[in-house]
Amino acid sequence: MKIDNLGTINILAIESSCDETAAAVVQNGRKVLSNVISSQIALHEIYGGVVPELASRKHMENINPVIRQALAQAGIKLPDIDAIAVTNGPGLVGALLVGVAEAKAIAYALGKPLIGVHHIEGHIAANYIEHPDLEPPFFALVVSGGHSMLIRVADYGSYELLGSTRDDAAGEAFDKVARAIGLGYPGGPKIDRAARKGDPKAIDFPRAKIEDAPLDFSFSGLKSAVLNYINGCEMKGVSWSQEDVAASFQEAVVDVLVRNSMEAVREYGIKRFALAGGVSANTLLRARLESKLDAAGVRFFCPSLILCTDNAAMIGAAGYYAYMNGIRDGLDLNAQPNLELPMEVK
Ligand code: KG4
Ligand code: ZN
Repeated sequence: MKIDNLGTINILAIESSCDETAAAVVQNGRKVLSNVISSQIALHEIYGGVVPELASRKHMENINPVIRQALAQAGIKLPDIDAIAVTNGPGLVGALLVGVAEAKAIAYALGKPLIGVHHIEGHIAANYIEHPDLEPPFFALVVSGGHSMLIRVADYGSYELLGSTRDDAAGEAFDKVARAIGLGYPGGPKIDRAARKGDPKAIDFPRAKIEDAPLDFSFSGLKSAVLNYINGCEMKGVSWSQEDVAASFQEAVVDVLVRNSMEAVREYGIKRFALAGGVSANTLLRARLESKLDAAGVRFFCPSLILCTDNAAMIGAAGYYAYMNGIRDGLDLNAQPNLELPMEVK
C-alpha cells in the first residue's frame, strides 16, 4: 500500500480486551503522543487469573479517566482527533464491549471516523512505533495469551498464516505452568524472573514437532509433562525446585519458538523478522531469537517492553494504516470475542 501524505493524522486509540484499560494518541501511525495503561494485575492476582466480570467492571471505572489522561498528556483536545480506533476482538466479550461502546460514543459525538482494530494486528503494528524504517513485507512471530502464529506481513492489513498452534498458545502455557508450580498470575513475567535463578538443563521437557507441518506449534504436551514431573516428584516424596522447573520449561518453549522461526527463515528466505505479543517480553526469547537471526543475517525487530504487552499505542498504529486503507466502521461495530485476523493476501 502506498501511504499518501494527508498531513497530520491524530488517532485516539482504545484497548480493553483483557486486563489492561488503555488509551493512547498516535500521530501518523508511528509517533506516540501518549500511551496510558491502567493495569488490573492487583485486582486479579488473588484469584490466580483474570476474572472476566471483575475486568469489565474495572474497565468501566477506568475508561474515562484513562482517555482524559491520554488526551492531556498528548496536549490534544477531542475535536483535534481525526479518528477513533478501538480493539473490537478477540478478547473477553464484556471487557471488549466497554472500549467499543466508549469509542462509538466519542465517534458519534465528534462526527469522526470509527475504526475497529484486530488485537493481533495491533501487536504486530507495535513494531512500527520504534522502527521507522520497518515496512511490509516482513515476517512476524506473534506469541500472546491466546495466539502463537508465524505470519507473513505482505502489506499493511494483509497477512498470510504460515504456522499456528494446534492446542495451547505459548502465553497460555506460561500461565498454566506458573499456576501449577505455585507462581500464580501473571504467569509469564513470574516464570521469566524465577527462571533466572534456575538451571534450564535440570529437566529435559519435550519439544513437540509436527511432522507434516514444521511451522506449527503444540504446547499442551509440554504443559502435561511439567504437571507429570511435579506429581511424580510429590508421589515419590522427592522435593523439586520451582526455579529449575521454570527455567527448564521456559527453555523448552523458547527452543520450539526459535526452531520454527528459523525453519521459516530457511523456507522463505526471510530478511526481516519481527516479534510481537505479550510473550515477546520474555528475556530469553528476545535474546535467543536475536542472536540466531543475527547469525543468519536477518534483521530483528522487537518492541520495547511497554509496547510488547497490551497497550493502546499499538492499536493507534494499526488504526492509522486501516484509516489510510479507507477502512471505516459504522456505529453497529460490535465486540467479537473470537474475531479472526483475515489471512488472505490482497
Ligand atoms: O499480548 P498480551 O499482553 O495479552 C494477550 O493478547 O493475550 O499477552 C499476555 C501473555 C500472557 O500469557 C503472559 O503470561 C505472557 O503474555 N507474558 C510473558 C511475559 N510477559 C507476558 N510470557 C513470558 N515471559 C514474559 N516476560
Ligand atoms: Zn495482547
